[in-house]
Amino acid sequence: MDKRKIIVTSALPYANGALHLGHLVEYLQTDFWARYQRMMGHDCVYVCADDTHGTPIMIRARQEGTTPEAVIARSYEVRVKEFGAFEMSFDRYGSTNCEENRVLSEQIYLRLKARGLISSRPVEQLYCERCAMFLPDRFVKGTCPRCGAPDRDGDNCSVCGATYNTAELKDPHCAICGGKPALRQSEQLFVELEPCRDFLKAWLPGHTDKGTADKLLEWFNEPLRGWNISRDAPYFGFKIPGYDDKYFYVWLDAPIGYMATLWAWAKERGQTLEDWWQDPKAEIYHFIGKDIVRFHCLFWPSELENAGFRTPTQVFVHGFLMVNGAKMSKSEGTFISAATYLKHLPAQALRFYYACKLNGTVDDMNLDLKDFVGRVNSDLVGKITNLASRGAQMLNKNCGGRLGAMDPESRELLEACRAQLPEALAAYERRDFCRAMVIVRDWADKANQLFDAKAPWKLVKEDPEATRALLTGTLNLFRLMAIALKPILPAYAAKVEALFGEAPYTFADAAKDLENRPIAPYEHLAARIDPKAVEAMVAETKAQAAQKAAPKLSGQDIKKGIRQLAHAPAPATFPEPPADTIAIDDLAKVDLRVATVLAAEPVEGSDKLLRLTLDAGEAKPRTVFAGIRKAYAPETLAGTQLILVANLAPRKMRFGLSEGMILAATDADGSPRVIRPAAPTAPGAKLH
Ligand code: 2FM
Ligand code: ZN
Repeated sequence: MDKRKIIVTSALPYANGALHLGHLVEYLQTDFWARYQRMMGHDCVYVCADDTHGTPIMIRARQEGTTPEAVIARSYEVRVKEFGAFEMSFDRYGSTNCEENRVLSEQIYLRLKARGLISSRPVEQLYCERCAMFLPDRFVKGTCPRCGAPDRDGDNCSVCGATYNTAELKDPHCAICGGKPALRQSEQLFVELEPCRDFLKAWLPGHTDKGTADKLLEWFNEPLRGWNISRDAPYFGFKIPGYDDKYFYVWLDAPIGYMATLWAWAKERGQTLEDWWQDPKAEIYHFIGKDIVRFHCLFWPSELENAGFRTPTQVFVHGFLMVNGAKMSKSEGTFISAATYLKHLPAQALRFYYACKLNGTVDDMNLDLKDFVGRVNSDLVGKITNLASRGAQMLNKNCGGRLGAMDPESRELLEACRAQLPEALAAYERRDFCRAMVIVRDWADKANQLFDAKAPWKLVKEDPEATRALLTGTLNLFRLMAIALKPILPAYAAKVEALFGEAPYTFADAAKDLENRPIAPYEHLAARIDPKAVEAMVAETKAQAAQKAAPKLSGQDIKKGIRQLAHAPAPATFPEPPADTIAIDDLAKVDLRVATVLAAEPVEGSDKLLRLTLDAGEAKPRTVFAGIRKAYAPETLAGTQLILVANLAPRKMRFGLSEGMILAATDADGSPRVIRPAAPTAPGAKLH
């Protein structure tokens, strides 16, 4: 078989959002596929990156008094850890805010321009004077033009379901500062698509599934509208060559991030981007959700084609995640973040369950939480893993931990299962992971039947050698299952490799019989899931949703008053700061220092307070009780910095001793907002 050269990508997650189980539908299936390709012996590179640019990151940085770079660096760290916990095997996980991406974005833009595909025309958008910026739709709120519901989003109403243009909203206001925006014109750049019509018409059918291609081709009955690729300053992104105040729209440089990350990966190995992306033998596959097909199947191939780059071999489109048969919902506790999942449940259980459900189609996938517990407990633990735990433990206890030669029935069953391996691999290739899992489960059923029929726990008393032969067969069957499952359960398979003292498996290892050799002590492979852990995960997710979304803060709001927040909970509304003045000596008495939050926990018995453990650059951390629970989930605070009133006399509270206060401001709705240093600062640094 020829060794293939395969480039695989998953859609780049936005740096400003937390990873959730919906995202993982895509990342896990891409990982299964990439691992399968590598186990087939192909050269498969899997790249992904944080999608960092755009207005939301810029606004968030402003609100936190920090830079967009600091925000994306922090989220990158969290992201990489979470992906690691889910056993993701990226060859490189990058960031769109990198030099390679800037160079490629400019290059692609300039090549499109040279081909006459970039045009410029005035566009009217809402502009907020107070924030001095054009407002993207999601930063405009107003009254629904259809049903009159107040405080609706800029482009749709969740009360009556209407969709509209932002300009149609009644009483529009800026979601950041509450100010009234006005329509303003500015010149915008467009990539023209109409000249790409013939190319796209010919390209689409062969490069994505039929349903997706047909749907997109329906739009070809009308002229193809150009695509606005520019945004006015202020914006976090790459400047457009030739303009001082225009930036590439985040969606222009996001897919280029696939190439940029691949380029950075190639450079590290002494290779070039051309060695991979431009190699005619290389195959390029994008895994994406059905919501972003327009970008990947219209704009992206048009850009690549016209900029002289190869277009993707195939765009694999998948559906959305449903939980318990319904859309993921915050209030139902089913909008589960990756972090919350990991707190309660093992990553491999989700990998296994998703593999059992994914079939390579665009259909939505249902995570039924009861079924999830059942499948993991009965199939992964009860059927598959039990073969190893019973077989290996019995062999170690009764047969000196040594495999013998297989008994004829086991050998026959092993041969029959092996003969089905190509079918399982073909299912992997077409991303029908569910079919591959059915085959493995079927092997497990048959192996268990044989095991139970031979009753080795009785046989061992009469014929230890026959028992050894049976256990050798059982363990060889289990080994075949572990090899077939390795793309789904890599850490599990690594333990199986250790059990049998073998090198990392590829599918070629499935042909081998393991006989007449010792095995290692059995190491625990997979635990049953306690349904209570699932309930706790859902309850925690519900509680997170109940905690009001962190309110937005503007300079105006800060001016409404800065107060020291600590021992007492924040009042619902907030007095204007008194007009009285103090002498500078009075101010000098207050010792304000930067502190880093080491830990933040809810306080039992108080729905207002959080217990903060602070590093203020002293020998011992301090404990401070702060009334900020209403606005902050405790897990979002660790690692952040704030300002501590360090010389306040300690105060004994019902919950313990509070050793200082922290500074916070109140938002327009009375919610506390912690005041932070503008840039990372050494804990203990004094404010002056
Ligand atoms: O929809 C999203 O989450 C985008 N961040 C996906 C970008 S995919 C690619 F184009 F980079
Ligand atoms: Zn504003």
